[in-house]
This record gives sequence, C-alpha cells and structure tokens, in this order.
Amino acid sequence: MAAGDYNAVRDAIRKIIPQASYDDGSAGPVLVRLAWHASGTYDKASGTGGSNGATMRFKLEAGDEANNGLEYARKYLDPVKKQFPWISYADLWTLAGVVAIEYMGGPKVDWKPGRVDDADVQYVPPNGRLPDATKGEDHIRSVFYRMGFNDQEIVALSGAHNLGRCHAERSGFEGPWVPMPTRFSNTYFKLLLRSQWIKRKNSVGVEQYTDEDNELMMLPTDMALVKDPKFRAWVEKYSDDKDAFYRDFAAAFGKLLELGVVRGPEGKAMRQYARAKL
Ligand code: HEM
Repeated sequence: MAAGDYNAVRDAIRKIIPQASYDDGSAGPVLVRLAWHASGTYDKASGTGGSNGATMRFKLEAGDEANNGLEYARKYLDPVKKQFPWISYADLWTLAGVVAIEYMGGPKVDWKPGRVDDADVQYVPPNGRLPDATKGEDHIRSVFYRMGFNDQEIVALSGAHNLGRCHAERSGFEGPWVPMPTRFSNTYFKLLLRSQWIKRKNSVGVEQYTDEDNELMMLPTDMALVKDPKFRAWVEKYSDDKDAFYRDFAAAFGKLLELGVVRGPEGKAMRQYARAKL
C-alpha cells in the first residue's frame, strides 16, 4: 500500500467501526470522542496543546480522568496503524473521528494530513484543560473560548452528544442522550428543548438529568445550553434546521482538528517555542 494513500486508511477505519461486542455495536462514537479530546487541549494564548504531536500517547495525558475510556478507541485503531505504519497517530486519531462521523450519517468534514508524532512527554499539556460536565455556562465558555471558539460553534460542537453514551465507570455519568446513539442527527437538540428533564442521582450516586422513563440522559453542561439565552438561541436553530446544524458542525469540527496544527519546519519551531510556556 503506497505511503500517503489516505483513502486506503479511511477504508480500514470504516472496517473497524462495527464492533459487535462493544456498546451499541459501534466504535464510532468513542472514535469521535478521541479526535475531540486529542484536539481540545489547545490553548490559543500559548499555542500549546492540540492534536499535533499525539501527546495522548503518553500516560500523563492518557491518564487525565477526562480521557477515561479512550483506550478503547486507541486500541481499535492499533491494527490500522500496523497496516499503515507511515501515518502518524496524530493524523490517524483525527482522521478516525472524521470517518466515524461520516459513517454514522453525519456531514463530510474537511481533514488535512501533516500532523507529526515528534513531541516527547514534555509537550503534554497540563491535565484539566478538557471540560468538566458537572459545571455550567461560565466554565463551558472559559474552556471553549480558550481554544478560540464562539457561542455558536460551542453549541454546534455539542451536537456530537447525538452520538454514544456515558459510562458510570469512566465519567460517573451513565446512559445515552438519544434513542439511536450510532446515527448522527439533530435529535439531541430536539430532546433538549422538548423533553422534561428530571434531576436524579444515577446508580453510582452522581446527579444527572434523565427523561421520565430514566432511559435517556443529559449532563449538567448539556442543560446549561438551554438555560443560557445565548446558547439556547443556537439550540433552537439547530433543532429546527438540520442542514444548518450539519454545515456548522462540519465547519466547527474541522476547525477543532486544526487547532495548533502548523505544518512543516515552521511547525516544529513553533511547537518548541510554545512548549517553553508549559
Ligand atoms: C461523551 C462531557 C463536548 C463528543 C461524553 C461523556 C462526558 C462528556 C462526561 C461521557 C464519557 C463516558 O462516560 O464514556 C462533555 C462535556 C463537553 C463535551 C462536559 C463540553 C461542555 C463534546 C464535544 C464533542 C463530544 C465538543 C465532539 C465534538 C462526545 C462523544 C461522546 C461523549 C461522541 C460519546 C463517547 C462514547 O460513546 O464512548 N462527553 N463533552 N463531547 N462526548 Fe462529550
């Protein structure tokens, strides 16, 4: 297989998405979460963090409790890395998110290769840069503004909670947000607005919001999107207009994967300069 044949890598990723004995039969959602957490450590002010360098290879970052469970995603991708040793982990993890979104019926997200795995453990950004689901709108804004996103992009990105589920043993929360968690759609926004959400303690004693039948759930941070009027306006928009959501999600997710990615020799120099600020 020729080095640089990203279509062959895409095919191989598609083949590992169906996983009969995992979650809802799909590795898709956890692959999306891996791409997001690999990228979402970015800090615009210092230029540190982000997907380039694949710093989640190191225990220091993999062990951030926000990353619990992502070892499954990395493990599912290992055979793909073995098959295509020329692709960097940083490219593989971000590409897998894009392929999974499309596979699950979501929009096509622009993706460019060129990330490198040249970072050593000293490039690992501090733990705690990813959002904490127990918090509210101020916390969400401070985390996403730090990456360079605005309110509209925050809500669009949050629509990824159409996918997958929470696992008590990983985050303390449990259950899926929507009835079909392996199909990309705007159901999450519709449910946020239309269902009665009841604050309840789950089986491990953590407070979350559930529907009347205790089948679906929302995190405190999800509820903040309907409580805060500026966020809510975008929830309403994306609930009514699926095309706008797909378009805006694709743009924001593409932007997320590019945070801090400077290619070529300048990139290396920029990362070394930023690292000094960690
Ligand atoms: C799952 C929190 C934003 C994609 C989760 C889980 C938590 C969480 C607690 C459950 C983890 C587990 O127990 O396995 C948050 C918070 C966010 C946020 C607090 C922002 C305020 C995002 C964004 C994306 C995303 C921006 C992608 C664009 C996902 C996906 C899952 C997930 C796909 C399901 C993973 C699986 O099924 O294993 N999130 N998230 N999240 N999140 Fe988020």
